[in-house]
Amino acid sequence: MALMTPLHAYRGILLDYTGDPAVHDAAVRLEEDGLLLVSDGKIHARGGYRELSASYPDVPVVDYRGKLIVPGFVDGHVHYPQARMIAAYGEQLLEWLERYTFPTERRFRDPAYAAEVAESFVAELLRHGTTTAVALCTVHPESVDALAEAALARNLRLLLGKVWMDRNAPADLCDTAERAYTDSKQLIARWHERGRLHYAITPRFAPTSTPAQLEAAATLWREHPTTYLHTHLSENQAEIDWVLSLFPGRKSYTDVYDHYGLVTSRSIFAHGVHLTEAELARLGEQGSTLAFCPTANLFLGSGLFPFRQVREAKVRVVLGTDVGAGTTFSLLGTLSEAYKVLQLQGQSLSPHQGLYLATLGGAAALDLDPVVGNFDSGKDADFVVLDFHATPALQLRLTDCEDINERLFALIMLGDDRAVHATYVAGSAAYLAAPPAGQ
Ligand code: GUN
Ligand code: ZN
Repeated sequence: MALMTPLHAYRGILLDYTGDPAVHDAAVRLEEDGLLLVSDGKIHARGGYRELSASYPDVPVVDYRGKLIVPGFVDGHVHYPQARMIAAYGEQLLEWLERYTFPTERRFRDPAYAAEVAESFVAELLRHGTTTAVALCTVHPESVDALAEAALARNLRLLLGKVWMDRNAPADLCDTAERAYTDSKQLIARWHERGRLHYAITPRFAPTSTPAQLEAAATLWREHPTTYLHTHLSENQAEIDWVLSLFPGRKSYTDVYDHYGLVTSRSIFAHGVHLTEAELARLGEQGSTLAFCPTANLFLGSGLFPFRQVREAKVRVVLGTDVGAGTTFSLLGTLSEAYKVLQLQGQSLSPHQGLYLATLGGAAALDLDPVVGNFDSGKDADFVVLDFHATPALQLRLTDCEDINERLFALIMLGDDRAVHATYVAGSAAYLAAPPAGQ
């Protein structure tokens, strides 16, 4: 059958996953000399260069030989308003929010400021190889408009939402249960499923919402069940103690959200560092997702994410950079810290498990695996070209290193934005470190 749209081809080391490599070795798809064919923004085919190129003799090939081509990275939890306050010194969660975060977020009532930060935030995601992200905005509806417009302009796949806070925050950053509900309903109508945008109803965390507001968030989600719920959970011990004092009678932090109908299969909870077995079991039973944010958990001194226990409870996991408590936009850098967080608990994360989490695993935890996450035909052609030799330290480490697993591990441990050679979104180059070579 004649194709309506032209094909584009990319040659390099192709790596993607058809499932969780921790469960099936066969889930790893690796072509040392591979070809990725793209048509109309979608994956057309993937395979070995020799086999595939013979069937497509006239298609021009972009030559990325020696470089690694993987699906675009998924960042499951990030705050765009905090892009300019990464690395704020000296506090743990609750003091950090008061001292740095709320004053920063106040500035987003100005749409021009919001637009400026949104633009640079989207550019940073793409420069780091991230093509799908779950982002919090601020309490101001205009902050959502700014990010939605910036993401649409660059065709980023983004879950985004206005933050809800009606207590325990500065008065000028508070809404009410009714206002948050009405504003969010309007934002859903404006942005949900427009282009590659999805809406996430986003109560900040239990301490900054009254019971009435948590109830209103659940009501809104039930009225729009294809949207997401996105919040924070069990990050820091002082936070947990505060939640239990604010909601007397509730068994646990998770039980607070559960009581108001917020523990669902569309719920994304950032952190989950200190969850009990019973809480994990409940999240697993409901099919909820936890965002593992290692750099933020280390930076704020919050604790170590219990990865093995979370997996055993069948809770879905996505990685999150959690900028600005997180200290990097890089999913490679985030994986490197995730590995160390697991090491401190006598656990491990192989390079394939890590890259799976950063791609298909993250997509699946967000119910987005039908459209992104690997190179199956028909999915969005979102991919990143990574350079094994991006830095002198990588070059030193990779001299005489032929084994692909060792090379991948070195790239994860030593790589960051400097290793991102190109980022493609829906088949178009969204970031190029250098012009691509033709063949
Ligand atoms: N808990 C509530 N708000 C925040 C936030 O902005 N960052 C982090 N890391 N945790 C939170
Ligand atoms: Zn966060």
